[in-house]
Parts: sequence; structure tokens; C-alpha cells
Amino acid sequence: MAERILVTSALPYANGPIHIGHMVEYVQTDIYVRFLRSCGKDVVYFCADDTHGTPIEINAAKQGISPEEFVARFYEAHKADFQDFGISVDYFHSTNSPENKHYAELIYGKLKEHGDIERREIEQTYCEVDKRFLPDRFIKGTCPNCKAPDQYGDACEKCGKAYTPTDLIEPRCSLCGTPPVRRSSTHLFFKLSRHEDFLRELLRRPGFLNPGLATQLQTFFEKGLADWDISRDGPYFGFQIPGETDKYFYVWLDAPIGYIATTEKWAKETGKAKSALDYWAEDSDARIIHFIGKDIVYFHALFWPAVLKVAGLKRPESVKAHGHLTVNGEKMSKSRGTLIPARSYLEHLDPSYLRYFYAAVLGSGVEDLDLSLKDFRLRVNGELVNNVGNLANRSLSMLAGAVLQKRLAPPSDGPGRALVEAALARVSEVREAYEKLEYRQAIRVITEISQSANSFLQQQAPWAKIKTDPEAARADLSDAAEVAYLLGALLSPVIPRVSEKLFAQLDAPPLTFEALAIAQYPLLDRGRTVGTPEPLLPRLEEARVDAILGQPVPEAPKAKEEKKAKGEKKAKEGAAAEPEPPSEIEYADFAKVVLKVGKVLQVERVPKADKLLKLTVDVGEEQPRTICAGIAEAYQPEQVQGRKVVVVANLKPRMLRGIESRGMLLAAGPGGKELSLVDPGDLPPGAEVK
Ligand code: MSP
Ligand code: ZN
Repeated sequence: MAERILVTSALPYANGPIHIGHMVEYVQTDIYVRFLRSCGKDVVYFCADDTHGTPIEINAAKQGISPEEFVARFYEAHKADFQDFGISVDYFHSTNSPENKHYAELIYGKLKEHGDIERREIEQTYCEVDKRFLPDRFIKGTCPNCKAPDQYGDACEKCGKAYTPTDLIEPRCSLCGTPPVRRSSTHLFFKLSRHEDFLRELLRRPGFLNPGLATQLQTFFEKGLADWDISRDGPYFGFQIPGETDKYFYVWLDAPIGYIATTEKWAKETGKAKSALDYWAEDSDARIIHFIGKDIVYFHALFWPAVLKVAGLKRPESVKAHGHLTVNGEKMSKSRGTLIPARSYLEHLDPSYLRYFYAAVLGSGVEDLDLSLKDFRLRVNGELVNNVGNLANRSLSMLAGAVLQKRLAPPSDGPGRALVEAALARVSEVREAYEKLEYRQAIRVITEISQSANSFLQQQAPWAKIKTDPEAARADLSDAAEVAYLLGALLSPVIPRVSEKLFAQLDAPPLTFEALAIAQYPLLDRGRTVGTPEPLLPRLEEARVDAILGQPVPEAPKAKEEKKAKGEKKAKEGAAAEPEPPSEIEYADFAKVVLKVGKVLQVERVPKADKLLKLTVDVGEEQPRTICAGIAEAYQPEQVQGRKVVVVANLKPRMLRGIESRGMLLAAGPGGKELSLVDPGDLPPGAEVK
């Protein structure tokens, strides 16, 4: 029987919308799962809403609805977010479900049976007005260390000092503002300390946890593992503890049990397993892999495995932790508009862009990752749209054109075959990178393969051959289309919808990693025709990207650009408002500029603009570009016609005198009449200048 793998993502709290930080995890997991499926593995992927706890109970009360109704509202929204982002869970369930109640009670029963539950009397903070015990986060007061007012009961946000709520100066209940009292109550503790040896051994197991995190967890052993309070007094939203009065399981006890409950629900609904125990029984052959953020490693690498062990259930083989997302270099924040709900993102942009960007920056480590909106746009446009998208589109549109009539060439023995074979030789690198969660490495190889095919087209120039030797052009384009097909397969875990579109345009069946393991040239059935080409993804425009921050899209960004071009004085004022460029830049900054050789095909004067010439420039793309250049005082149109120039090829398009200008020419000199266009020599249009 094939090896079975069960993968989970951490369960989002049903206490707010899914945001793009959560999405780092869901995309990371989804890429892994899709990759495994493409390799032909038997894999299931589960997630659910985490519905219990004090904050949800209090927020529901504030809205005057029951907690059940409160979490039900988020359930539908979360499910839709997963679906629309292409997160391919096999089931999305809820911890407030009969299956979860069943397994929580069953597991608790086992813990008790094995003598792992102990009753202890503890003192806690209690509000006599609200008639409830107060979690640390519901108590506010003045920091005992730095005297900052209005700090939470667990730690000061100003000075960072950690303390207990009773240390606060003038503590108050954050709900009603009155000073809380101390009150004692009986709690149930899981005796984690009994499992120290087991946990130490587990953390040493290769592949169980990121080694840096495993070392951090060692400090808990040094201090002595504290037993874990798994009960809470009412009012609380959660499952009642059997045999107790007004006591509930602490949310973190039943939350990971939600992984099992979801397996159970899926088994029942689909009939694909008899019960969750097909996967979770101790002697099952299934491999269990959890994806989590580094903030919850404590629960997943210590409590959870110990609970599973006592309950006689299967422990995870691996807990894969990731870092946190920042936006434009800062922690996500509501006030800055950077706590972007997944839904707001989807209202403006295709999820493929963000999935691609996350893959392009994710490694296997736990360092934080940044969504710089500028890098997001540049990488998506530079790599996905201009590199991969352009390869697919230019090869397919020429193949589908009037001359070649969609027919593929028979396999050949020329440089095109060598190109495809070289690309195939790199598949194992991509495969290993996905396996190791080094997605950014996978993306690097993928873009290099794409680049090699684009250079091949540049050298072969099938657009020129097509007039004289159409069969030679057909052969080049068919081989380039093979590489596009391969790229569709390699990118399919990351941007499955784009890959599907590409396969459809090639009129070829989906290509999997399983098939690629034995694939040979040619990949495409050469007796067939291709389908109808269409651009795979439009370019990301700056205004659209900025719109995901929740600020209105600027009304007329074009008009603004036009104003700038109106005379030198205004342009200077505009420039002065921009920040001074630093005197030294990083290599990475320079590397963002794509310079290409262009050939000027046509030149026109721009009416009423004595400095501007409107040029039509071939930069080796399917369509020549329109570029407005401020060189009219230095050059007559006929002096520029037919010249080779150097073009800044990835400059954001701008409107100049109502003309969309896509790029800029490099010229030396102070300006005005004294300008000299940079001459790239004999290189063909599209050649990169480095
Ligand atoms: N409900 C718990 C998990 C229970 S699992 C049995 C929880 N929920 S959460 O909604 O706060 O977070 C869900 C997951 O999203 C966590 O793994 C968390 O680390 C991750 N992320 C939340 N914000 C994130 C970022 N800003 N960046 C990356 N991941 C983030 O924790
Ligand atoms: Zn109160």
C-alpha cells in the first residue's frame, strides 16, 4: 500500500478574518501538499476553525449573540477565503463539533486513566462585577517596572518586562474597570513533567523540528517542565469537562485535537477511511506533518506529542515552523492598514500573485519574511509576467498565428532539443527544493530555466525566420513551448490556476512531478496542435497593489504623472518632494533594474511638446514598445530612426502627454541639446545589458 501522509495547518481562531499573515502558512502548506500530490503520494490535508476560549466568548457577548452564532459567522468566511486562495484542504472543520467533543473526552479519559491528571487548588484574578476569572490579557494596569500606564497583565508593551497580573500597580478589569480580587479554585493539570525524557528524545530526532527552535525549547527543561493547566472555570466557551461542575477544557487542549476530529469528519463524509484512527492510531503507517507559526511551537512540540503519547495515538513525524510576515518592513498593524484581510486582497488582486511571491521568499527556516509591496510588484512583473508569462505567450502566439496554424513541429535534434534536455536535467533540483521547503530555491531554478528559453528564442529569432523558413521557426517555437509546458508543471504547486490555464492553451494534459520522473524529450505530443494563446497574468500595476492596503485607489494616477511632465519647473518641484536617493545603493537595488538593448523602429514628434519624441522600440518582446523620450532638443527624428539604444525595461509605465510610455532610454550628458544616447553596439534587440 502506498505511504499515507496527513498534513495540517494551524487552526485559525474564529475571532476575526483570515489575514495575509495567516496566508503565509496556508500557502506554504498548500504548496507542499500540491507538490506531494503531483508526485503521486497519498496525501490528505486538514484544517479547521479554532472556536473556543475567553476572547471569543466575550466578543460574542459584546455583540449580544451566542458564541455558537459568533463562530458560525467566521466559519463561512474562513472557508471561502481558503477556497478562493486555492488552499486545497480535503476538509475544513470546526473545533466546536461533535467529533471534537468525542475525541477531547476520549483523550482526557486516557490522560486520567494513566494518572496524568492532577487536581490543584490555585489562586487567580477574579472580577466580582463580571463574575469571572480574568485571563492575564483581560487585566490592565500600570507597569511595575517602567510605570507605563494601561498595560496588560502578562507583560509591558513599553519596556518588555514580563510579570503576573498581581504585580501591576492599580490593576483593573478591562471589561468593567473595577479592581479585581484574588480567588482560589480547583484546576486540573496535565503532568507534563513526567514526560521529560520522551520529549527530550523527540526534540533530538532529525527532521522533527527546526534545530534552532529545538534548542530554544531546551531552556524549558533546564527550568524544569511545568505541569499544564488544562481546565478553565465558567463562564467559558468550550467543552465541559466530564465529571466536573462548571469546568471546561482550556482551548489549547481541544484545539490540536481538532486535527483528529477533522480527520474523523472527513472519513465519515467521504468514506475514504473507516475513522480518524486509520491515521492516528499508534500503529498506523501514516506520516503526520504539522505546519505552524513559530509562535505556537511550544504547544505543538511539547504538550501535543506528550498528550498523544499518553493517549496511545500517533505522534507527528515533523512540525514545520515558519516565521512571521511583516509588511513593508514592519509588523502588521491595523492603524497602518497593513493587517490586510485575505478578502481585501482578493477584492483587488489575483491570489496567484501573492502565492508566487510567498514561494519566492520562503525558505525552510523560521526567519520572518517581508511583503514589501514594491518587491512584490517587481518580482511578480519581472519573473512571473515578463519571464515565464512572456515565454509562454510569445511562443504560443507565433505558433498559433496565421503562418504556423497551431501545428507543432516533429521532434528535432538541434539546439532546441538541447534546451529542453538541459531544462529537464534541472527538474530534480526543483523537486528537492520543494521537498525541503526551500521554495525560494525552487523559484530561482524555475526562473533560470525560463530565462534560458527566452535567450534561446532571442538567439534563434523565429519571428525573423518565420518569413523565410517557417519550418525552422516552427521547430524553435515548439521547443520553447516544451519548456513552457515544463514550467507549468514546475510551478503548479505554487500557482495551480495559472498552470492549468497554460496546459489548456497548449492543449496538453496536466504534467505532474510523477510523470517528470521518467519524462524525456519531447514532452508534448508533436502530432497535435496547440490551443488558443492568451496572456497568463496581467502585469501588477502600482495603484492596484497599493489598493490592498485599504486606501482608495488614487483617482487618476495618470493625470498626476502628466502634470509632472508639464515644464521643467513643475517637474523639479515634484522631484524635490521625493526622498533624496542614498549615496550608495546595495547591489540588490541595482540588480532590480532591467536594462535591455532596443532598436528604434519609428519616431514621431509629440505635438506641443518640444522636448519629447515618441518612439516605437523593439526590445525583443512580442510587441514593440512605445517610449516617450525627452531627447527632441538633441536629436532629429531621422537621427534616431533605426538606432540601437539601451532601454530601462522594467520601469513602471507612465503617462506623458496622454501617451503611455513603457520604458526609458539611457543617455549621457546634462540634458537639453547636450545629450548623447548610449550605444549598445551590435547586440540584438532584447539582449540584456549588465
Ligand atoms: N488557534 C491557534 C492555533 C491552534 S492549532 C491547533 C492560533 N491561531 S491564529 O489564528 O492566531 O494563527 C493561526 C496560524 O497562523 C498560526 O500558525 C500562526 O503562527 C499563523 N500566523 C498568524 N499571523 C501570522 C503572520 N503574521 N505571519 C505568519 N504566520 C502567521 O494560533
Ligand atoms: Zn470586571
